[in-house]
Amino acid sequence: MNSRSYKIITFGCQMNEHDSEVISGMLTQRGYTEAAGEDMRNTDIVIINTCSIRENADKRFFGTLGQLKKIKLANPNFTVCVCGCMMQQEHITKKLRQSYPWVDVIFGTHNIHEFPDMLEEMFQRRSTGEDWTVNQIRSSREFRVDRVYRDSDRIVEGLPAKRLFGHKSFVNIMYGCNNFCTYCIVPYTRGREKSRRPEDIIAEVKALAADGVKEVTLLGQNVNSYRGVSADSGNEWDFADLIYALNEVEGLERIRFMTSHPKDLSDKLIAAFAECDKLCNYIHLPVQAGSSSVLRRMNRKYTREQYLELVRKLREAVPGIAISTDIIVGFPGETEEDFCETLSLAEEIQYDSAFTFLYSPRRGTPAADYENQIPEDVKHERFNRLVEVMNRGSKARNAAFVGRVCRVLVDGPDKKSSGILNGRTEEFKLVDFEGPEELIGSMVDVEITASNTFSLQGRIVSEQE
Ligand code: 5AD
Ligand code: SF4
Repeated sequence: MNSRSYKIITFGCQMNEHDSEVISGMLTQRGYTEAAGEDMRNTDIVIINTCSIRENADKRFFGTLGQLKKIKLANPNFTVCVCGCMMQQEHITKKLRQSYPWVDVIFGTHNIHEFPDMLEEMFQRRSTGEDWTVNQIRSSREFRVDRVYRDSDRIVEGLPAKRLFGHKSFVNIMYGCNNFCTYCIVPYTRGREKSRRPEDIIAEVKALAADGVKEVTLLGQNVNSYRGVSADSGNEWDFADLIYALNEVEGLERIRFMTSHPKDLSDKLIAAFAECDKLCNYIHLPVQAGSSSVLRRMNRKYTREQYLELVRKLREAVPGIAISTDIIVGFPGETEEDFCETLSLAEEIQYDSAFTFLYSPRRGTPAADYENQIPEDVKHERFNRLVEVMNRGSKARNAAFVGRVCRVLVDGPDKKSSGILNGRTEEFKLVDFEGPEELIGSMVDVEITASNTFSLQGRIVSEQE
């Protein structure tokens, strides 16, 4: 029996969170145990799952590695593994090879299923003394990063996942991205789009529901371009077909998904919102910018007007639908007029919530080489103005919930106040309310009594399983 403990540090998006759940599931299956507590010195193996989407992700990664090196120096058996999107970038693995010889296992996003074997091969080499010494540190490195994406590459099915929650789960429906937005590194790190077979997804969701999962979040960089080929009929399913099928899964109460690209959001999917009772009234629909000229240079393939029309259609077909978005501030060449168009779009739409980002040049992407990069102080000034508008919108949208009774899936105890629970409405609104911990994982009806910018407060009016 394996007695080693591990800890995973995850940076980045839900995709990465889910990859970490899979890594955790595979290690648990091999007998490793998840370390308790925050102190990394008490753990045998640390795995850092990296993200490359923005600059501060790189900085945090190398900062964390610096801390781990100290532990490694004091304890040569301490094991450091790194994976995730950053490993798909050649300049990063080159830097790791040259300057971080003490990192034990390096694996890419296409090699996750190989990780437990790599780890064991590394331990084997370490135990037989076949390792080598670099800068006074013993190294038995295992390195596997596939960077060639072939259409024929199979999606590895059936990997276990150790879920963060008993009552809700992520489910990958596709991998990769074909869109090549000019600022984005993802198509280079995650490769081309590949959709899972509908039968595999449905079987996974059924198994999750049978295991008590009430809510699934379907994951993909652009779920609207899902094209899964049925193993039974050979027919191609689109994303709406998949939603209709999952809506029939017994025991499942809620379906969410992330992320949607506006250019591929079909009328069929909008109809599914209206027709499928399990599909939550919430959509994350990244706009990125409010100016059509910036959108064109971002290669987003829609205009401001087309996006506004999409929102109009969604709100008409699904009254009360909550909409959140991503916006990048300070894209190269963004003028004050362009930025004001982003502000006015945000004012007009009144998003329920938004993720706002400072543009960060990513090596290898077209926009990193564009002229007219925006000075940092201008980016920050615009960012602050945007956040203010966004927060006003969220506050107004949240205020409209006061007095309503909402069904809430209870996620857990509040981290700060004891006796307080929190959960989410179907619109993905965070709600705090008093209640016993036995309610975690169940659906309760909560009357909303107060609101602020980022959350709602309420009181339970009924409990139901
Ligand atoms: N700079 C800033 N934000 C970015 N995003 C993606 N690439 C960059 C970048 N280079 C943002 C986009 C995307 C979200 C996941 O991250 O808004 O929707
Ligand atoms: Fe990046 Fe654009 Fe693909 Fe989203 S759709 S992952 S922003 S390239």
